[in-house]
Amino acid sequence: TRVAVIFGGQSAEHDVSCRSAASVFRFLDRGRYEVLPIRISRAGVWEIGTDTGTGAEFPERPPSTGSLIAALGALRAVDVAFPVMHGPFGEDGTLQAVLETAGVRYVGSGVLASATSMDKQFTKTIVAAEGIAVADGVVLRDGDDDVPPADRERLGLPVFVKPARSGSSVGVTRVDDWADLDQAITAARKHDTKVLVEAAVIGREVDMAVIQHPDGTIVAGPALEIRHGAAFFDFDAKYTPGAAEFVIPADLRPEERELLERTAIRAFEALGCAGLLRVDFFLTGDGVVLNEVNTLPGMTELSQFPQIWRAAGMPYPELLDLLLRAAR
Ligand code: DAL
Ligand code: MG
Repeated sequence: TRVAVIFGGQSAEHDVSCRSAASVFRFLDRGRYEVLPIRISRAGVWEIGTDTGTGAEFPERPPSTGSLIAALGALRAVDVAFPVMHGPFGEDGTLQAVLETAGVRYVGSGVLASATSMDKQFTKTIVAAEGIAVADGVVLRDGDDDVPPADRERLGLPVFVKPARSGSSVGVTRVDDWADLDQAITAARKHDTKVLVEAAVIGREVDMAVIQHPDGTIVAGPALEIRHGAAFFDFDAKYTPGAAEFVIPADLRPEERELLERTAIRAFEALGCAGLLRVDFFLTGDGVVLNEVNTLPGMTELSQFPQIWRAAGMPYPELLDLLLRAAR
């Protein structure tokens, strides 16, 4: 089977994607898969590389023009593509539309589910309509620069200010004093015109990993609890080895475990996802609150998704094989 591994990209998560892809290159079973590496530069140039058996190599001089067209030619010759991409232009349906239009099978969600799930506001709207609890918050659209007093009072402090479409906590600020709100909005606006200001949810942070098998069956892996010493699970806590500890399976009562599994699968279905999804929750005294979802979750060796499946008895190479076989 010939598989194109697409990584890098134009989002703020370019480096995270490269790290995710490094693990994919390392663990893809070369007895089964012939690998075509495709790297998208920060400027959006598509580069075609060669597989080294454990990684990828690229020509020193990247192509300057027509590179997407050239890459499409190469893509049409593979059996399946794996977008190991995070954030806008990779996880948000745009790349999925290219693959769809080119007639290439690919791992993960389609155009609509990818676009919806990338946008934290639309995600909340859809899962809330299914009866899943989400954090209270206000949406600041282009031109909105303030949170009215009544909303401030209702949300309380701290609040979390986030770009609607980003990942890895890039552009996210915890605000403990309304005087710092402006600065937080400016920071979020660097990444998106639409910004969310959300109430803090008091609870345990628990992530769920969902996989759709090739026969369509949707299953959730064991719950993962995140423990860290930071003010929130920010970029550094996410990517500095040792900064956070994952407990898998999380220490939960059977009914909590069951609720998390059921809600994660419901979110997957409500959003119309395919292949895989990581669903991030807060577990509170009155149930679960869905924080956000990730259609192409981090795949570094330290990342939650591969660790959850490893704990479930599925080593990384088998996980990759399953995701590729389920590609549509
Ligand atoms: N957005 C990062 C890659 C994650 O969700 O793991
Ligand atoms: Mg995310």
